[in-house]
Amino acid sequence: MEYKIALIRGDGIGPEVVGEAVKVLDVIGAKYGHKFNYTDILMGGCAIDAVGKSYPDGTAEACKACDAVLLGAVGGPKWGHSTQPEKRPETALLSIRKDLGLYANLRPATLRPALADACPLRRETAEKGIDLMMVRELTGGVYFGKRDRYQTEDRGVEASDLMAYSELEIERIGRRAFELARLRRKKVSSVDKANVLETSRLWREIMHRLAAEYPDVQYEDVLVDNCAMQLVRDPGQFDVVVTENMFGDILSDEASMITGSIGLLPSASIGDTAPGLYEPIHGSAPDIAGQNKANPIAAILSAAMMLRYSFKLAAEADNIEQAVDAVLADGWHTADMAGESEKSLGTVEIGQLICKNI
Ligand code: IPM
Ligand code: MN
Repeated sequence: MEYKIALIRGDGIGPEVVGEAVKVLDVIGAKYGHKFNYTDILMGGCAIDAVGKSYPDGTAEACKACDAVLLGAVGGPKWGHSTQPEKRPETALLSIRKDLGLYANLRPATLRPALADACPLRRETAEKGIDLMMVRELTGGVYFGKRDRYQTEDRGVEASDLMAYSELEIERIGRRAFELARLRRKKVSSVDKANVLETSRLWREIMHRLAAEYPDVQYEDVLVDNCAMQLVRDPGQFDVVVTENMFGDILSDEASMITGSIGLLPSASIGDTAPGLYEPIHGSAPDIAGQNKANPIAAILSAAMMLRYSFKLAAEADNIEQAVDAVLADGWHTADMAGESEKSLGTVEIGQLICKNI
């Protein structure tokens, strides 16, 4: 089969890690008889420099002409927090999520067997294993609600960000979570703040309705503050965790930390139609950009998620994941990870080793 992949290499270490992911994809293509065709798309800070805006006209259309999108990272201190939205790299991320309808963000947090020592939690906790899937709603809530800033009579300037959720938005993300749980350990933890927020009370109602439709899946409600605490107390209890946009933003950073290195974690953002978007959880890390220091594993595992979820190539995805585990089990790592210094390698060398193990 032939597949068209949009590459948004982006800023900072983005181009380096995407470069390694592409090499891995090509090795997989050669082994299994697939052809991957790539289209480069400019987005983020580099697009601000080139054409004056982070999300150039036609970006969404160019992505929609492909079967999937692989993104490195966008942003960096160079572009600051401009008051003009089109000059902020983050605007591009939010726009592409909305324009491609990518309402489900899957962020697996897995403690890879070779890295149990890198887990900052107590040994007994790490030994139980961590293998959870954070399912974050990505195109609704406070991220996309009406924003305002206005003068009051007696309290100076006031700002407001509206958090709204519709039945349709909650139901479709909930369904994703239950479907995913069926392929895993069959447990859904739905995270909300129903003791305070009306959006959360609606969220909970709809999740309960869905839970009745999936009697084979174990279901629980967890309040977001408690969830933050449980993630460091006993993360092994979680399988699929589903939550709204901002709670998911915060909890997924927390979940990534307990697996030892944010440099290892991939993500998938999907909607009801192609293309899905795949990207490492880490950012652009401008401090180490261009120095062959970045960890390419999150980008490589993002490519594996792309094969699994967009192209339904499960064996190929397994093969990449096993190659990554083999390299880690041999003790090879990049500077962001713990390990013997003589086994610390650069971006390109780790990429090569993973290719060799395929
Ligand atoms: C993420 C990031 C983005 C988000 C920012 C850069 C807008 O933190 O993908 O988690 O908050 O969604
Ligand atoms: Mn985030």
